Amino acid sequence: MRASIRAALQVLPRQDGEDTFLSDVLCGLSREPKRLPAKHFYDSEGSLLFEEITRLPEYYPTRTEIGILEERAGEIAALVPRGAALVEFGAGSTQKARLLLRAAPQIAAYVPVDISADYLAAESRGLERDVPRLVVAPVAADFTRPFALPRSLQGRPRVGFFPGSTIGNFEPGEATDFLRLAAGVLGPGARMIVGVDLVKDADVLHAAYNDAAGVTARFNLNLLVRINRELGADFDLGRFAHRAFYDATERRIEMHLESQAPQTVRIADRAFDFEAGETIHTENSYKYEPESFGALACSAGWRALALWTDRRRHFSVHALELA
Ligand code: AVJ
Repeated sequence: MRASIRAALQVLPRQDGEDTFLSDVLCGLSREPKRLPAKHFYDSEGSLLFEEITRLPEYYPTRTEIGILEERAGEIAALVPRGAALVEFGAGSTQKARLLLRAAPQIAAYVPVDISADYLAAESRGLERDVPRLVVAPVAADFTRPFALPRSLQGRPRVGFFPGSTIGNFEPGEATDFLRLAAGVLGPGARMIVGVDLVKDADVLHAAYNDAAGVTARFNLNLLVRINRELGADFDLGRFAHRAFYDATERRIEMHLESQAPQTVRIADRAFDFEAGETIHTENSYKYEPESFGALACSAGWRALALWTDRRRHFSVHALELA
């Protein structure tokens, strides 16, 4: 790790480390109906599987959002103040940030905020090498909890970046809470760019989460692989099946793992019984109307500056400003 990055890397006390993985799993499986938090999908194998999902022909969100960011790069760049710090919440791959950095050379600092310190260090090194003008100041933190920006950014205008419709994993109330938290972290005068997946034809949505190659199924089942490996559980992978469907009333894709038989699974010193057909609810992926997301942002204290969508209106990118 380059010394400058190591020095700059802020590691916050881990309220969300390995030990809470165990307690999240035990609590989630004790609930009725059973559920597991979607954020635990992303171990190294899960992150690779998600990357594979983004390249599937059925999974439109990633390529549609990148298309919007490319097509509107000039308009987006025009909303970024000189000397700004770009703060990315949950920096997966830096591909989208790189796009903005290229379009807006006035961005002086890049602050990826991610729970995985190792991943952050690697990505940050790459960016410092490729964009020499840039101060990269990674923060290892759970961005759903309050955290402080590095002091070195003091005085810089802030632009938040939350692409990928990750916000869709939150309940609408949690999404509002997150946008309020982001407002607090970024501070007065901040702007924010958020990618949001849109309500659309149910068949298009269904296909995106039930791909023919079965990658989404592997992504979903990898959560059990992870629990087996890291927590010493004995999930039988052949006896759970991937299920994903669109609930038009809730406006969300639900992902589940369905028990194919009555069975008992052991984790630590606990045993969990499953009936045949019983599911573990592993993810919600909320879809919004452009207007309904604007209203949600508004209730969190943000004002809509601009809104871009693709021609098919599959995906939206929102520019917000603190009111
Ligand atoms: C990364 C949360 C945006 O909800 O579409 C992809 C995750 N789950 N396929 C999404 C996911 C199943 C993805 N997000």
